[in-house]
Amino acid sequence: MDNAIYKSRRINLSEKLPKNSVLLIPGANTQYRNADSAYAFRQDSNFYYLSGFCEPDSLMAIINNDDGINSIIFVPPKDKLKEIWDGHRSGPIGAVKEFLFDKAYDNSEIDNMMPEILFGCDQVLYPIGKKNGFDQKVIDWTTEASSKDRHSKSINILDASSTIGNARLIKDDHEISLIKKACDISAEAHIEAMKNVKNAESEQSIESLYVYEFSKRGGRFPAYTPIVAGGENACVLHYIENNKKLNKNELLLVDAGCEYEMYASDITRTFPANGKFSDEQLQIYNIVLEAQKASVDAVSKGNGVMDPQTISEKVITEGLIDLGIIKGNLEEEHEKGSFKDFYMHKIGHWMGMDVHDVGDYMHEGEFIKFDEGMITTIEPGIYISSTSDVDDKWKGIGIRIEDDVLVTKDGNKNLTDTVPTDPAEIESLMQES
Ligand code: GLY
Ligand code: MN
Ligand code: MN
Repeated sequence: MDNAIYKSRRINLSEKLPKNSVLLIPGANTQYRNADSAYAFRQDSNFYYLSGFCEPDSLMAIINNDDGINSIIFVPPKDKLKEIWDGHRSGPIGAVKEFLFDKAYDNSEIDNMMPEILFGCDQVLYPIGKKNGFDQKVIDWTTEASSKDRHSKSINILDASSTIGNARLIKDDHEISLIKKACDISAEAHIEAMKNVKNAESEQSIESLYVYEFSKRGGRFPAYTPIVAGGENACVLHYIENNKKLNKNELLLVDAGCEYEMYASDITRTFPANGKFSDEQLQIYNIVLEAQKASVDAVSKGNGVMDPQTISEKVITEGLIDLGIIKGNLEEEHEKGSFKDFYMHKIGHWMGMDVHDVGDYMHEGEFIKFDEGMITTIEPGIYISSTSDVDDKWKGIGIRIEDDVLVTKDGNKNLTDTVPTDPAEIESLMQES
């Protein structure tokens, strides 16, 4: 990988900072599942976006002043013994040479050096409240920097979340190619897994199909814990137990996407566990499908980011009125929000390095408009639990259809539409193999 891309992101970001300011981005630490058993290391997304550097316990400073030093990184020191156990470390020399930072130091020097780095600046920016213990660190360094010269002015501390988030909101070509690859892997996994569902006995065995299909194509980790929900479990929106036996007469909702080289994908498909939709399942499914298609069409440069939301609400309200599940007329029921009993989440979210990616949806009190390079999910759903006040025949049906959509110059590109959504195509795919 050419690390120049990360350097140019640092330079672009520093130009957006206030004059005479320092932006601090902490890297991730190693996380432990229990005792000393570590999870595979996952770098903080902001940190990776601006460095490509994947060692724990690191910290970066991006500086906007007239000194010509734009970036400083603190990294784990070279250590023969630690490298035998845990692998290669770049050390400060490697961080400058390979990762193109202007200066680099051992991370043991952070507390010593940071007040000096902040001394004389007007603002310190960092993502406030995002990393345990880091807020206090910044306050301590800033206080120490201010107290170096009591006759100078105080240093303001500002939240950098929007500045970085809005930079990450517009994906560059390199990011789009990685997200496309993540989406392709996940799409192939959905297709392969759907062919094998008829032989599966439990949610867990289906989950394992997806994880296997992701991993063998290079997406070792899911971008989020998969949701594999049989029947009414789909009405628990973030169901991740994935451990129940399948009832063959029920639907199965699978929300699963892999991460590929730090970038997410996020796909949901809902299909009959026995390979054939019942009449009731199909009627609800077709409403969600219509809402999904109409909402994808509304993802276009210049349209409001809430346009797909409104469209999905109206299609779902109308469909549920037609089935007698909501009583009343479209305008009034939409206004009242009756659909929220059955469609209680939003239409989608930004997607990038994080599955629920950063980037503001509003600016100065108004929803923003779609722009080229943004990627959003479109994922309407209808969830009818056994406690709903409806005819029994609808109970236990939970359906979501989710794709990942890139805003292009003249419309959009659905990055995950190779996985069938058409009910007849799903049924025929499920007969294969
Ligand atoms: N996979 C989580 C979501 O769809 O938002
Ligand atoms: Mn999603
Ligand atoms: Mn999802």
